Amino acid sequence: MEKLVIEGSKRLEGEICISGAKNSALAILPAAILAGSECIIKNLPAIRDVVYLRDMLLQLGAKVHIIDQDKICIDSSSIKSHKIDAELAKRMRASYYFIGALIGRFKKAEVPFPGGCEIGMRPIDLHIKGLEALGVKIKITHGVIKAKAEELVGAPIYLDVVSVGATINIMLAACRAKGITTIENAAKEPYVVDTANFLNALGANIKGAGTDVIRIKGVDFLGGCEHAIIPDQMEAGTYMVAAAASRGNVLIKNVIPTHLEAITAKLREMGVEVTEYEDSVRVAALSRPKAVNIKTLPYPGFPTDMQQPMCVLLALSEGTAIVTENIFESRFKFMDELKKMGAKIRVEGRVAIIEGVNKLSGAPITATDLRAGAAMVVAGLVADGKTVISNIGHIDRGYERLEEKLINVGARIRRIEED
Ligand code: UD1
Repeated sequence: MEKLVIEGSKRLEGEICISGAKNSALAILPAAILAGSECIIKNLPAIRDVVYLRDMLLQLGAKVHIIDQDKICIDSSSIKSHKIDAELAKRMRASYYFIGALIGRFKKAEVPFPGGCEIGMRPIDLHIKGLEALGVKIKITHGVIKAKAEELVGAPIYLDVVSVGATINIMLAACRAKGITTIENAAKEPYVVDTANFLNALGANIKGAGTDVIRIKGVDFLGGCEHAIIPDQMEAGTYMVAAAASRGNVLIKNVIPTHLEAITAKLREMGVEVTEYEDSVRVAALSRPKAVNIKTLPYPGFPTDMQQPMCVLLALSEGTAIVTENIFESRFKFMDELKKMGAKIRVEGRVAIIEGVNKLSGAPITATDLRAGAAMVVAGLVADGKTVISNIGHIDRGYERLEEKLINVGARIRRIEED
């Protein structure tokens, strides 16, 4: 186990290049099973969750060749097994995508309940409801989801709650179902569109991804393809917030600015200068940002994944902010860590009331989950003195070369071995 040590109060200045989107990669790697042949995936982020997924693909019998730092080839023609190992599945949330992918390819799947960040109940009832509508019989025994279908048949499916995971999992299975599947109240996140584009490149027939009704016409055959993953909007958003909190000036490169609109709009409302270019954004904060209220919502609303880093900026802003977390009921656990650094925060259920302070002070803190870990890093960068963050395995699951990217813009951050 390692820790991050940050010497704070440093203004960030320079350029940061954004890696491929974690949540796209986590859907597209299992989706490659559907190809039954070679897929080349480019702009793949070098993060721990991708390593975990690669281990699961290897365990199933796929061949995975690393072509370059951010480019791999997955050959799923050699897959024989349809069972995911429990130890591997519980390392992360996205192992649930193996259900849709294996069902689509083999009409059977055995996948243990997924792990991932503890930010709420995170049920998968909608994934199951959707798959059952396609004709999949599902039995849950000893924590393993056992799915089997004689035949997959397209169906209309309404999602009671907008869910990224359920939308993608249903899409994966429906690609190979007979007839037409419609997903109503579908998630519109860029990852959904990226995964649909990948599946269409394999030969699927998916229309409407990015809107709330997705129509999938099942096909008999899917083959290989080459696909580049979109840039990570959450990694970009984290560095945008870090730049603003440090009153710095950072050019964030390799982004799709429209994917960042909710974050950009809030930063501008706070008085932070955000300039959009074709594939980059510049964030410059000359004065203390003003407090704003935030409500997390499905895309294109303000993303729940950005709530935690944004709370650090609000903790340092002028005035009082009200933050409402509408997606995950336990995503405020990290506030206790922020309070150790001098933040003035009161949490009442799904609402946090944040009274801005002039300065945070460095402290020993713990990353309680992935995005909370990123928020802790932002807090450490701007706090007075030294911050030591433990439990950083969470951060490594989702941020590629975090220290290197931050050191390049002037941060003082290093990794040490935990005692
Ligand atoms: C994905 C992302 C995560 C992001 C979240 C919301 C991945 C691997 N993770 O998580 O980073 O924070 O979207 O943008 O892509 N729900 C149900 N039943 C279900 C499924 C979900 O009630 O079957 C609820 C959840 O409890 C939550 C809401 O729907 O309240 C949204 O969850 P969902 O979009 O499914 O999140 P994940 O796919 O787990």
